[in-house]
Amino acid sequence: MSLDADRASLPVGVFDSGLGGLTVLKEIHKVLPSENLIYFGDTARVPYGNKSAATIIRYSREIAEFLIARDVKAIVVACNTASSYALDALRGMTDIPVLGVIDPAVRSLTQKAPRKSTAGLIATKSTIASHAYDAALERHRGDQFLVSRACPLLVPLIEEGYAESQAADLILRDYLGPMVERGVEYLLLGCTHYPLIAQAILRLYPHLKLIDSAEETAAELKNLLADRGALRSGTKGSVELYVSDMTESMRALKELFFEGAVDRFEIAHIGEQ
Ligand code: DGL
Repeated sequence: MSLDADRASLPVGVFDSGLGGLTVLKEIHKVLPSENLIYFGDTARVPYGNKSAATIIRYSREIAEFLIARDVKAIVVACNTASSYALDALRGMTDIPVLGVIDPAVRSLTQKAPRKSTAGLIATKSTIASHAYDAALERHRGDQFLVSRACPLLVPLIEEGYAESQAADLILRDYLGPMVERGVEYLLLGCTHYPLIAQAILRLYPHLKLIDSAEETAAELKNLLADRGALRSGTKGSVELYVSDMTESMRALKELFFEGAVDRFEIAHIGEQ
């Protein structure tokens, strides 16, 4: 599969169950400022992290259809839960490259964490239940041992603006304390929302080395487009944000990350909504 160089001007599609994927979008915009980016956040149906595999796959397919209809040259699944369940289904729908966030993060862990060390993984319930990180670790021949913990309370804390609060500290201690006692030094942030609570984690456990997938995924996208001669160069690219519901937290995060510098921000209806 190769892309024509004249497809270079086409946009890159990025999606998440909600606003967490903006952490990945921002990094892609930083690393590839000339790319035109189209983001879809499924704010009407978030969270995906406690839904069944069948539902996560159906929602992801509907978003992919939306992006494919906009003639994207690549799709970045900026959601760990969707990356855990839906990558094969999405790759079966299209010839364009589909990139998840799990492999880039795990590759980074295998390069950074000492061999045979115990690393931590925090993620949604569905991501942990999928064992997608263990499978990726095997694919990358990592010999680190993963201690996993589902952290279902973190996404609502973040979305409600409670990342820096006593409540968050209590919950983080409960989730992370046992891992730290087991000697964990590297912690995989297995949910694209979690970079937004990273400061609180580091305030409580300053020795932890956090691996979030945004940087690694943006670097992998750059390599992938370069290999196919499909990198756009020259003028600054556009950023279009679509959501399935216009929520206050999405508006706030858009401002925080892009300071109003987006070219479009509107509701798009997908699937049966
Ligand atoms: N953004 C999702 C993820 O990365 C978490 C939020 C959700 O549960 O949908 O897994």
